[in-house]
Amino acid sequence: MKIVKVLALSALFGAGLMANDVLVSNMSQMEKGLSSIQKGFLYNTPALIKEGVSDIQKANALFHNKDETKKYLPKDKQHLNNIAFNAAKRIDTASNNVLKSLDKKEYSKAHQSYSEIVNACTACHAVVRSW
Ligand code: HEC
Repeated sequence: MKIVKVLALSALFGAGLMANDVLVSNMSQMEKGLSSIQKGFLYNTPALIKEGVSDIQKANALFHNKDETKKYLPKDKQHLNNIAFNAAKRIDTASNNVLKSLDKKEYSKAHQSYSEIVNACTACHAVVRSW
C-alpha cells in the first residue's frame, strides 16, 4: 500500500515538474523572441524582427487550447484562465500584425504591434503574479 502511494505521489509530482519545465523553456523562448524583435527595430534589421516573431509564435502555441493554458497557471489563478488565454491570443494577433506591417514597410506601425505584444505578455504575468 505504502509503495503505491509513493508511486502515485511521484507520478503527480513528476507531471507537475514536467509542466513547469515546459513553461520555463517556452518563456525563455518568448523572452529570446522579444529581445530579437527589439534588436531588430533598434538595428533596423527586419530579418531579426521576423526571427523573433517566429520564436514567440512557436512558444505561444503552448496556449492555443484553453484547458491546456490553465495547466500552466498557479492553482489559485486558474479561475482567471480566460484573461491568460486572451492575452495569448493577443500575442498571436499582434505578432501577425508585426509581419504584415513589415511586408508593407510600415515600420512605425510594426513597432506599435511589438508594443502590443509586450503589453499582452504583461497582461498574463499580471494575473499570474498578482500585480
Ligand atoms: C498565458 C500566460 C502567459 C503569457 C501570455 C506569457 N507568459 Fe511569461 N510566464 C507565464 C507564467 C505562468 C510564468 C511563470 C510564473 C512567473 O514567473 O511568475 C511566466 C514567466 C515568464 C518569465 C520568467 C521565467 C523564469 O524562468 O523565471 C519570462 C522571462 C517570461 N514569462 C516571458 C514572457 C514573454 C516575453 C511573453 C510574451 C511574449 C510572455 N512571457 C507571455 C505566463 C505567461
